Amino acid sequence: MSNTPLNGVSALVVGGAGGFGFACAARLARDGAAVTLMGRTSETLEQAANDLRRDHPSVDVGWFAGDASNEADVAAAVAQANQAPLGICVATVGGSTVRPFLGLDEGTLRYDFDRNVVTALLAMRHAGAAMAARGGGSIVCLSSSAGGLSFPFMGSYSVAKAALEALVRVAADELGHLGVRVNAVRPGLVPTKAAKPAMLVNDPEQRATVLAEKPLARVGTVEDVAEAVRYLAGPESSWVTGAVLPVEGGNHLRRAPRLETLARSICGDAAIDQALAGAIPSPISSPIP
Ligand SMILES: NC(=O)c1ccc[n+]([C@@H]2O[C@H](COP(=O)([O-])OP(=O)(O)OC[C@H]3O[C@@H](n4cnc5c(N)ncnc54)[C@H](OP(=O)(O)O)[C@@H]3O)[C@@H](O)[C@H]2O)c1
Repeated sequence: MSNTPLNGVSALVVGGAGGFGFACAARLARDGAAVTLMGRTSETLEQAANDLRRDHPSVDVGWFAGDASNEADVAAAVAQANQAPLGICVATVGGSTVRPFLGLDEGTLRYDFDRNVVTALLAMRHAGAAMAARGGGSIVCLSSSAGGLSFPFMGSYSVAKAALEALVRVAADELGHLGVRVNAVRPGLVPTKAAKPAMLVNDPEQRATVLAEKPLARVGTVEDVAEAVRYLAGPESSWVTGAVLPVEGGNHLRRAPRLETLARSICGDAAIDQALAGAIPSPISSPIP
């Protein structure tokens, strides 16, 4: 068997200079896929692309600067990646806001929905159509443990990732006859470039709280997640669609960690105390996005 089984396949990685995005792009490039990275910041994209070219000199690497929540930008990124037959799209953009339930305002809910669901919808629609025209392909979205468990203090994130997983199932159902597969990976805590995973990993008490819910009691790596994405993206999973694969040390067998310490450090003690006492706290503003 070839050691570059994705040779001739083009892959678009939305959020491709990020923690998971870059690891996924590198894993796909290792198996010979041409990769296009999409993100909003040209400098980080160019740096990431140069790193990939250095490590995988025989692979075509491109990048496209644009906003994954802007339909025209997504369509243009897909068109660029589709210059060679687009066979893989990995939608990684997303993120969480930490709020107690009674402090979760409408704007926060919409913000987390937009960045986790709308970005994935646009990628799925445009990549899905391009793949259908080419005879098929594979789309992989990044969900989270929060998509399947009740996640105290991350209500808007939990809603958004659950919605994303529902969208993955519907897309898989409607696009299957066109040869387009759609799946999701559900990672647990992994230190990336995002702020909150680092806060959790670096706080011994919160780290222990997270690990206590994982039978395989360790923090994950971006490579753990990239391997799962690689499986769902490639021909090895050709009979798999509409699946959500937990890659989180078995956390789905237990419950979500209680992130009260993180919530207190982000929202302030007063807001958490008010919310836990049953009152709607004053509007919460926080420097952590
Ligand atoms: N890290 C974890 O512990 C963890 C666990 C479970 C699930 N997840 C999920 O994994 C995904 C990736 O997380 P990560 O930790 O890898 O984050 P990250 O390191 O912060 O990377 C996110 C990437 O997305 C890009 N991006 C953000 N908004 C964008 C937009 N509107 N348009 C285009 N690009 C955008 C960012 O680049 P620019 O800012 O330059 O655009 C960045 O490169 C998210 O969906 C997250 O919810 C993370």
